[in-house]
Amino acid sequence: MLPESLIAALRGAQHVCVLTGAGVSAESGIPTFREAQTGLWENYDPMDLATPEAFLRDPELVWRWYRWRRDLVAEAEPNPGHHALAELEGLVPELTLVTQNVDGLHARAGSSDVIEFHGNLFATRCFVEGCIVEVADDDGVPTCPGCGSPVRPGVVWFGEAIPASALDQSFAAAKDCDLFLSVGTSSLVYPAAGLAELAKRHGAVVAEINPNPTGLAANFDHAIAGKAGEVLPDLVAGLGGD
Ligand code: OAD
Repeated sequence: MLPESLIAALRGAQHVCVLTGAGVSAESGIPTFREAQTGLWENYDPMDLATPEAFLRDPELVWRWYRWRRDLVAEAEPNPGHHALAELEGLVPELTLVTQNVDGLHARAGSSDVIEFHGNLFATRCFVEGCIVEVADDDGVPTCPGCGSPVRPGVVWFGEAIPASALDQSFAAAKDCDLFLSVGTSSLVYPAAGLAELAKRHGAVVAEINPNPTGLAANFDHAIAGKAGEVLPDLVAGLGGD
């Protein structure tokens, strides 16, 4: 049962900003990063796989890991949480959806203009020039059709900057929104984790949706201890959707 004050905040909101993390795709069968036993970072060291240094050291290994993740995502389907957010877009005056996920499942569920804070698993960039390039998804390390340098996955790695346009749009939305939903993220990785705090400072009602309340939950107006795939459809239903 969702708090009536949260439903009321959603009904009255002119601009809803939603930040999602790996938890929103967990019910699609995609492992999160930091959960004990099942989290990706439990079994792999991010410094071996998700840094520019790791790519320079062993690009084949990095590509194998990202291709494995691509295959997982290709077999997955958006879940009721993704679908509820896509539906919410048509039910509120303005919705900004920011995701840390690189799986593209929000777009596949029908959300438009998703801000992909950490890039996309299926994008590819020249390692040297940084530009987005189109390459065949063969084995090994693809090379840039322009300059011949190695091509890398189009995601943001540890130690790298968030693309400026994603950062600008997300910070502007966090400041402008009147309701901010933080869904399925451990709220440990900045600058994404700072968006909820920014929204709060600028007067938004902030709610977290996570079966395991995070360290930031005490700062928020609501901490809904539940799964995204169950809570988000309930929230949309509370607004008068399906
Ligand atoms: P984490 O793995 O850190 O956190 C996932 C969160 O989802 C946890 O707080 C879980 O409790 C929660 N969760 C699990 N199942 C859920 C469900 N069904 N519904 C709702 N929540 C659920 O993932 P992120 O916070 O997304 O970055 O991690 C942030 C970034 O760290 C990622 O984008 C990635 C990672 O390293 C890079 O690779 C740069």
